[in-house]
This record gives sequence, C-alpha cells and structure tokens, in this order.
Amino acid sequence: MLTAKHISAKDLFESLRNIKVGGTVCHFSLKKCEEFAPIINEINELKEKKNAIILAHSYVSPEIIYGVGDYVGDSYALSKIALETKASTIVFSAVRFMGETAKILNPEKDVLLPATLGGCTLADAIDANQVRELRKKFPGYTFVCYINTTAEVKAECDVCVTSSNVSMVVANIPNDKIYFLPDKMMGQNLIAEMRRRGINKDIQYYNGTCTVHVEYTLDQVFRIRTEYPNVKVVSHPECRPEVCEHSDFVGSTAQMLNFMMETASKQFLMLTECGLSARLEKEFPDKTLVGTCTLCPYMKSNTLKDILRVLKAPEPKDYVHVNPAVIKNAKKCIEAMFRYTQA
Ligand code: 13P
Ligand code: SF4
Repeated sequence: MLTAKHISAKDLFESLRNIKVGGTVCHFSLKKCEEFAPIINEINELKEKKNAIILAHSYVSPEIIYGVGDYVGDSYALSKIALETKASTIVFSAVRFMGETAKILNPEKDVLLPATLGGCTLADAIDANQVRELRKKFPGYTFVCYINTTAEVKAECDVCVTSSNVSMVVANIPNDKIYFLPDKMMGQNLIAEMRRRGINKDIQYYNGTCTVHVEYTLDQVFRIRTEYPNVKVVSHPECRPEVCEHSDFVGSTAQMLNFMMETASKQFLMLTECGLSARLEKEFPDKTLVGTCTLCPYMKSNTLKDILRVLKAPEPKDYVHVNPAVIKNAKKCIEAMFRYTQA
C-alpha cells in the first residue's frame, strides 16, 4: 500500500516539490497542495469505509499516485492486482480499457472509472467487427491483442498481451502465424525482437498508434545523444521501431523504472508519458532526466475531485459495464496471457 492515513498540505508539498517534468500538470506549489490535501484525506477515509482500492496507472498525475493510490504500476501489474484483490470496489484511475480488464477479471465487483476522457488512441483504433473481418482474411492465424483494446475486441481474439510480456507470450504460442493488433509500432518491434531471438514466425499487424509514443523521433534521440554523450535512452515498445532500435532499453512502464533503478548511469532520456517521468524524478532524486516528455490527455483526465465523486456518489456512467457474453470470451483471452507468461 502506498498511501498514508492522513497527510498535511505541507507534507504533500515536501514529497512532490522536486518534480519538474510534465509542465504545470506535474508541478506542485504549496497552494496547490492546500487544495489537494483535504480531498486526499477524504478519499482515503471513504476508501476504507467502502472497502475500496484505488489502482493508479503510472501515467496519472502524481497527486493521485502518491496521495490516494493503493497500487501504482503498468497495465500488467495492475491487472494482476485486480485479479487478486479482496476489496469489493475497484476505483481504476487510468483509462477505460484498463477498467474493463478489471471488470472482466472481477465481474461480481464494482469497478469505477473516474476518467472523464476514458479513451486511448490504440483501444479506439479497432472494433470487434473489424477483428471478425480480419479473422476471415487471415484463417489459421492466432489473433494476439494488446491489452490496450476494448473488451469486445478481446472477446474476438485468442491471446492478450501487455507491453511487459508481448515477446514472451508470442514466443510461447505454438503457432507460427500471428496476427497482432492494434499497435503497428509494437507489431514492428515484435518482429524485430523475434528476429533477434532467432524465432521464425509470420507476424502480421494492424495500423493503430499511440498518440504519445509515436511522436518520438530518431532525430530527437540523435540530438540528445550528441548533447549528452553518456545518456541512457529508454523507450516504450509503442515507440517507432527506429527509435527502439537506437535505445539502450525498451520495455513497459514498470520495466523502464526497473532499468533506471538497476543502471549506474545518472542521465536518462525517457521516451514515454510524463507521469512515469514524474515518478522517476521523485523516486530517484540522484538521477537526471534530459529532454522532454509527452502528456496523455486520456490518462490526465483523471482528477482527485472525480475520484472523490465516484467514491461518494457514483452515477450509472461511472460504473464499468461489460456484457456477460463478452466477459466470458474476453476472460479466456486474458487467461491465455497469464498461461503463456508462466509457460
Ligand atoms: P504499460 O503496459 O507499460 O502500462 O502501458 C500502457 C499504456 O497505455 C502505454 O501507453
Ligand atoms: Fe493510450 Fe497512448 Fe494514452 Fe497509453 S499513452 S493510454 S496507449 S493514448
């Protein structure tokens, strides 16, 4: 558990004042903390009373992660916690597809989504009908979907993956024909990784992209390397293949954090969303981040006020609903991921 029982504005400010990345969104003043502290304390009291937990993705704002989040992590870690939790209500501070994953794994629990913009450019790139059409065009292929997909899309696919296990899962699937969706960049990075591992599979992919990670270019990497010759470049597999190829490390949110923790270097270029950069700045004060980061408008539509609102008096629109028939098939797809991760 991350959160303290009661926090003063001064303590909140002390804990967040060193965060510089992410512009005004992630920059904290005492005044801002005076506004946040009472909301944080009210949320933490209510959460206990209602037997609720708050799962916070690394990309949401620091006051959520460090103020009220019970768990913070990448989509894989959070989906495992959603699977294991004893709490009766899950407040998922992230985006809709993550809330849906929690609901699929816990159909009897209430899953509340405080995000006002719950979308994601990847999850919105393809729907269930399009998957059905693709399955007709690619018979004999195992359909692998990224966790950044709707519940309906997962229900039409065979195996789900996250950015932390995509290569391991695809390597373990006993079929050489793979259709990967929806991220084109991750599909191309997957092909390169299979080649590096000497695994020969026919991998087709869809053409979605993440609005945040697709923005990073090779030029930026070269510019930063010239300016900071000792920098370690760390990227997410949703980045362009040429960017990943010229990175020192490629991995999920949690893997990027571990890389930074385990690497002696002091300077890092993190090609990812600002929320993770803010976490790194706070948790590793002896390391320096160079370059800029990008904000995901969907993740950043989560606010403390909305978390309090959905805990206090949830409206029908705040509950994540997934049709029971969709849950049944989508669950098989997610369970296949857990199976192939252990294989
Ligand atoms: P992670 O799987 O690393 O949490 O990534 C999810 C995501 O939305 C990345 O943009
Ligand atoms: Fe979707 Fe990209 Fe935002 Fe992640 S960062 S939620 S992939 S739009």
